[in-house]
Amino acid sequence: MRYGLLYLVVSLFVFVGLVNSDSIEFDVYSGEDQVEVDDSLSYKYDQLSNNSLLWGPYRTALYFGIRPRIPRSLLSGLMWFNADGYNTIGDFRHFYEQGDNMGKANWVQYDPRIGGRQVITDNDCHIDITIDFVKSNDGRSWGVKVKSTPHAGYENIKTSFVWYSGLEGKRDDVQDGQFEDPEAEVDISGAGYFRLDNEKDVKGHEGTVKFSGISDGLGLFELEINDGPKSNKHPVSKYLVDPELDPKKSHHYSLNVPDDNVWKAKDIFMTMLQDSIQDLLTKHGELDKFPPEQLFIMRDIQNFEGNLHYIQKMYQGSAEFDIIFNNALTPQDDKITFDNIKDKIKTTLSSFDSKFEKHFSPSKPFNKKKYNTFGKEIVSGLLGGLSYFYGDHLVDRETVFDEDSFESYELKGQTEGPYELFTFVPSRPFFPRGFYWDEGFHLLPLLEYDSDLVLEVVKSWFNLIDDEGWIAREQILGPELRSRVPEQFQVQSPEIVNPPTLMLVFSSLLEKSRAFQVDEPAKAKGGYGGMESFNQEDLGSIIMNNPEVLTNFTKQIYPKLKLHYDKFRSTQQGYVEEFDRGTNLEAYRWRGRTSTHSLASGLDDYPRALPADIAELNVDLLSWIGVMTRSIKLVAELVGYEDDYKQLAEIELNIIKNLNDLHWSEEHKTYCDLSVNEDDENVYVCHKGYISLFPFLTKLMPIEDVDKLEHLVDMILDPEELWTDFGLRSLSKSDKYYGTAENYWRSPIWININYLVLDSLQYYKAESSYKASKSLLDKLGKAYSQLRVNLVDNIFKQWQKTGFVWEQYDDTTGEAKGAKNFLGWTSTVALMMNMPEKI
Ligand SMILES: *[C@@H]1O[C@H](CO)[C@@H](O)[C@H](O)[C@H]1NC(C)=O
Ligand SMILES: *[C@@H]1O[C@H](CO)[C@@H](O)[C@H](O)[C@H]1NC(C)=O
Repeated sequence: MRYGLLYLVVSLFVFVGLVNSDSIEFDVYSGEDQVEVDDSLSYKYDQLSNNSLLWGPYRTALYFGIRPRIPRSLLSGLMWFNADGYNTIGDFRHFYEQGDNMGKANWVQYDPRIGGRQVITDNDCHIDITIDFVKSNDGRSWGVKVKSTPHAGYENIKTSFVWYSGLEGKRDDVQDGQFEDPEAEVDISGAGYFRLDNEKDVKGHEGTVKFSGISDGLGLFELEINDGPKSNKHPVSKYLVDPELDPKKSHHYSLNVPDDNVWKAKDIFMTMLQDSIQDLLTKHGELDKFPPEQLFIMRDIQNFEGNLHYIQKMYQGSAEFDIIFNNALTPQDDKITFDNIKDKIKTTLSSFDSKFEKHFSPSKPFNKKKYNTFGKEIVSGLLGGLSYFYGDHLVDRETVFDEDSFESYELKGQTEGPYELFTFVPSRPFFPRGFYWDEGFHLLPLLEYDSDLVLEVVKSWFNLIDDEGWIAREQILGPELRSRVPEQFQVQSPEIVNPPTLMLVFSSLLEKSRAFQVDEPAKAKGGYGGMESFNQEDLGSIIMNNPEVLTNFTKQIYPKLKLHYDKFRSTQQGYVEEFDRGTNLEAYRWRGRTSTHSLASGLDDYPRALPADIAELNVDLLSWIGVMTRSIKLVAELVGYEDDYKQLAEIELNIIKNLNDLHWSEEHKTYCDLSVNEDDENVYVCHKGYISLFPFLTKLMPIEDVDKLEHLVDMILDPEELWTDFGLRSLSKSDKYYGTAENYWRSPIWININYLVLDSLQYYKAESSYKASKSLLDKLGKAYSQLRVNLVDNIFKQWQKTGFVWEQYDDTTGEAKGAKNFLGWTSTVALMMNMPEKI
């Protein structure tokens, strides 16, 4: 019986892929009666996936911070400072900050399933730091090697490293290091203990310092920090002012901190250090005789023991040390040791290289030799932004926006949650949190590379859809993230939405898995027999080979997605009949705008109708809702909700119709927003730029509309409008708002939109070729090839020059602007390199 059902699922995939979706018949599934599918595959997939992604440098707001994907658990981080002077401690590194004077700070070879390498060039501390992160095969244990090399001319520099680990969560039934009821180990949420195994010694420790702990989710574990090879040097002082300040030793300090406070590790450290210095001053009367490498050693003056532990080291010249974490469940031969970590690093880096090279290979004119390192860093940096967040956030469900004045509004938040989120971030130093609009772009370069990982992130986001169908635009979960967002931006409102890019990705996943089954039916059939035998090595492409795992998830999530879609449309509905615009109601207006900004649109300060008016209709929003409709239609088709499918297909047609009827201006030869004048007559609001391209960018402009296509391509190619040598600018040079005010989306080049342009040029060149003139086809081809080269060349050049990729690029000079290490949707450059040279 079970066999038969699986067969039905597989044949459905083959079947829906082959027929034209408009004429599809639903004789396999009907909406109401749920087909039972054996869930063991989904379960097995989940288990493999959870283990493989359990640990990672998921505290991405730090230069280096490790945590597991468990709400309250063991949080670790690395900090450092220069100890040559009394002031250099001012450059104490912990959070990755935009303003820090770094030549580079990024993962250069990294994958969350494998591990990898981060490289940091700290130009204030005058050192290069290499951080290698490796994992055991079972995913439960890990190791880190920290290596620092002084810059030329600074060979004898003194550097202090501080490692901390803190266990969060509470568990009351621990007695003398044992659970009272060991059986309960996996059920009760919360932590056990985490303590120093070495004998406490206020004078410091020589050699390895060892800790052990137990907690739910982790079970029993050990953490060890060594003092590295004999070649390490410590500062040598003529005499020790105080026996507790020996820079040759590793110094330990521990204290108890409540949940949600381990992230303040640096502030706590600084406070302790101040206490210590104050105490030394009292004891010795003056501080002049303390060299900085002694003065800045933390002392264990309170003799506390708690859930947060620090280990501080003081080195001179180059240095190297390791931290290893072993779970008791990891088999002995899979454990990380100080002896095998070097070999593990080697295999980790070469595994990453082969996975990368399997999926990314630059096409002409970008040769592999020159662009491979760049490509690896882009993909690693994107993956290095993979984060796990847990905490509550602030929501205002009361405030109704004043739509008479469109004054800026002040939201008052109530706490909701806690929630968890597994997501990428736009920029570790500047935007280390989840953004709904960015996330779809983050996932695009990974669709081929690791579709299973894409699904995990999509799942995590969709889990956040609340009972009303809403997902907050920005995910500012917990006090750590809130500490980095100005107060007026912390509160989220259910009235405000954001471009639904995740839907685009989710439907791509479904389409890909479907195409895969159709293109390789033999394999699919073979896979059918072997389905239950996938294992860890297959992670990355399990859902592509076993689409029922994806179908299962899709069925579960469908009701929530539909709710999200309905909520999205109903909150953003625009006026149609009230302003004599016909009877087709598919027309929308971004809520929450002010006279200068529409944060909801994602294109914050892009010029819109002035004065703002409730009659406004936005072409980009209608396009996004078109994308959403298409995606959810595909999902409905897949899970067999025929009524929904029919209704969605009709909405889609109406959207396409209104993009033309309401938003195409024959006078301006472009797509525009719509509003009304003083006499309530409809007027187009045309600011040529990214917004004018939206029906084209989202492939909702009909392929037979070659006249429109030609007008848009002419605008794209015109240097007086959008064309520059570095990519397409956001707002036309001819617009009166070009380059004005804060100039965020009013001239700079943004890489996400440029990627969509390349993708659409490719699409229309192929799909419209039957109707397009030779000269139009030539223009499409030329725009594509030249734009691709301009973009990649400039991003590459700026990366060489600055050590980073950026949020935006200047449209006159190509220079990098905005947030740094923006990997982030600028990482779509990896896809651009992979795209064909010519179309
Ligand atoms: C799908 O997977 C989930 C989670 O693994 C399981 O609970 C559920 O029973 C499965 N559903 C079907 C229809 O197989
Ligand atoms: C995998 O992790 C998710 C999220 O933490 C959890 O809900 C799920 O139960 C886990 N599945 C398995 C099989 O362990």
